[in-house]
Amino acid sequence: MSQESIVPDELGDPALDPAEVPEPGAVTIVVPTFNESANVRQLLHRITESVPARLPCEVVFVDDSTDDTPEVVREAAQDCPFPVTVLHREEAVGGLGGAVVEGLKAASSDWVVVMDGDCQHPPSLVPELVARGERAGAELVVASRYIEGGSRAGLAGGYRVAVSRGATWLAKALFPRRLHGISDPMSGFFAVRRSAVTADVLKPLGYKILLELAVRSRPRTVTEVPFVFQDRFAGESKSTAKEGLRFLRHLAGLRTEAPFARMVVFGLIGLTGFLPNLAALWALTEAGMHYLPAEIVANQFGVAWNFLLIERLLFRERRLHRHWADRTARFALLANADLVLRLPLIALLVGRFGVAALPATALALVITFVLRFVGTEALVYLPRRTPKKSPVAHHQESR
Ligand code: GDD
Ligand code: MN
Repeated sequence: MSQESIVPDELGDPALDPAEVPEPGAVTIVVPTFNESANVRQLLHRITESVPARLPCEVVFVDDSTDDTPEVVREAAQDCPFPVTVLHREEAVGGLGGAVVEGLKAASSDWVVVMDGDCQHPPSLVPELVARGERAGAELVVASRYIEGGSRAGLAGGYRVAVSRGATWLAKALFPRRLHGISDPMSGFFAVRRSAVTADVLKPLGYKILLELAVRSRPRTVTEVPFVFQDRFAGESKSTAKEGLRFLRHLAGLRTEAPFARMVVFGLIGLTGFLPNLAALWALTEAGMHYLPAEIVANQFGVAWNFLLIERLLFRERRLHRHWADRTARFALLANADLVLRLPLIALLVGRFGVAALPATALALVITFVLRFVGTEALVYLPRRTPKKSPVAHHQESR
């Protein structure tokens, strides 16, 4: 990563008495940019007009561009009465969210405001976000489109509006407590106290960095300020359908972080496995196979179905330390052992402990389910103590 600080001459002059050098900004404005050369000059101009007179600031661009955005920023920074930094990343790890986390790490002020580089977020609101946070003693202040006085005027098209609404609803349904008091968890415009940012626990994946922060850093007090989402100044949104999929993976990863939540999802996926299992059993017996061997074969359809879903949704982040064939074999073994184990276990519960057949079966189902979950975690997806030479690096998220 290359870093370059452009400090206007009067601030950077080494002849100045250190006592006369202005305090570092009271707010660090972090701006992620991907090919925004037609916007950044305008953005810096608008920040210059509305922020420094009310609040000392510095601006940090975290750039993954393939165009000349960094050069344009450097040029425009010459006219700015505040320090401007450009961090250019060679690899866009984590996309937009990854860039913001780099900016959070580089920030030096008590408050950090994150905003887009395309002028959809009005810089005139920056001092207000910070002031509101100070007044409310909050750690996070969200600029929201969904409270009175806010609007999503600049969100182009009914399709984008519907997707944005659906995503908001889904996120709030999955995290009712963590997102309590945040009407717009999809917002890319917010202020956060630097002391509340736990950069090391963040695992950003794509656009929704506020969601990541709210769920993982758990800021104590949250408040909101309405804002009007403007039209883009120039160019087009960088969001794609692929970004939508990344959002779903991000949600799944956040939701299944806790072991208990993982077990619940594991169980739900297991339940859906009955469908292919029964369908195969029906087809095989229809074709004339005896039901016992058909049970065994049909079970494999359920196992394959579960394996695919579990790989995609549940253990996506943890599967790379073992070869896929190795994982498949272990998973299949565990899933079938479950079947073989259950019968003697029921016999034991009934014969030895005098449990009636029905509760014994239910108990055996629960026991083998938990065993299977624990076994799958430990034997298929737990990272080995001495991992092979960082296989993960090749699969890291990049644009
Ligand atoms: N560094 C970096 N790396 N910046 C990126 C990347 C990336 O991979 N992808 C996008 N950006 C930058 C863009 O250059 C822009 O400054 C900002 O992130 C937002 O990107 P847009 O492409 O303009 O996003 P949008 O307008 O569709 O979405 C915005 O509004 C949504 C709410 O509807 C964003 O603020 C979203 O976070 C927000 O959810
Ligand atoms: Mn935008």
